[in-house]
Amino acid sequence: MSARPTPTWYRAIGYLSELKNLSVWTKNNAGMGSFYRSQHELVCVFKPGSAPHINNIELGRFGRNRTNVWNYAGVNAFGQGRAHLQLHPTVKPAAMVEDAIRDCSRRKGRILNPFLGLGTTLVAAERTGRTSYGIEIDPRYCDVALRRLKTVCGLEATLSSTGEAFEQAASRRHGQAAT
Ligand SMILES: C[S@@+](CC[C@H](N)C(=O)[O-])C[C@H]1O[C@@H](n2cnc3c(N)ncnc32)[C@H](O)[C@@H]1O
Repeated sequence: MSARPTPTWYRAIGYLSELKNLSVWTKNNAGMGSFYRSQHELVCVFKPGSAPHINNIELGRFGRNRTNVWNYAGVNAFGQGRAHLQLHPTVKPAAMVEDAIRDCSRRKGRILNPFLGLGTTLVAAERTGRTSYGIEIDPRYCDVALRRLKTVCGLEATLSSTGEAFEQAASRRHGQAAT
């Protein structure tokens, strides 16, 4: 019998060692569903490693009163979000990610999203004064995330290997692809 390799997602769950809470994102409008239409999503809140977690809530000590029920409009409910939803099926509201970041990180802290999508985490981290890092496998989503970062936050991405601005590198690559 040959040993099967451990899937990446299983190793990732092992790294995310402690489940701190299970939050419920309740939306103002429902998605698809053949019996009940779904109006919530579950958010597992993990802490990796053994260091104590950052807790910016502490029963309202810092003026933040939060519960594990998160009420935020779904992204399909407003104009700009509708366009994003056509590009990506699971884009999250930036306000929700901003609050999650404020709950458990410090200003100037580092925020990583290894499944970046349209870059909501980049926008949320910038708005909350954090530095963010992201990984996204689909180049089309990377392009949207970087353009969104420029439109919403005024940040211009550069290609680190050449120093080119994003639009410059994008038009060069499109030119190369066309020839
Ligand atoms: C659920 S979506 C993230 C949506 C994001 N939270 C947002 O608000 O825009 C997951 C993303 O992970 C990306 N992805 C899937 N497998 C990946 C991998 N192995 N490495 C990097 N990104 C990956 C997908 O292309 C998809 O955009």
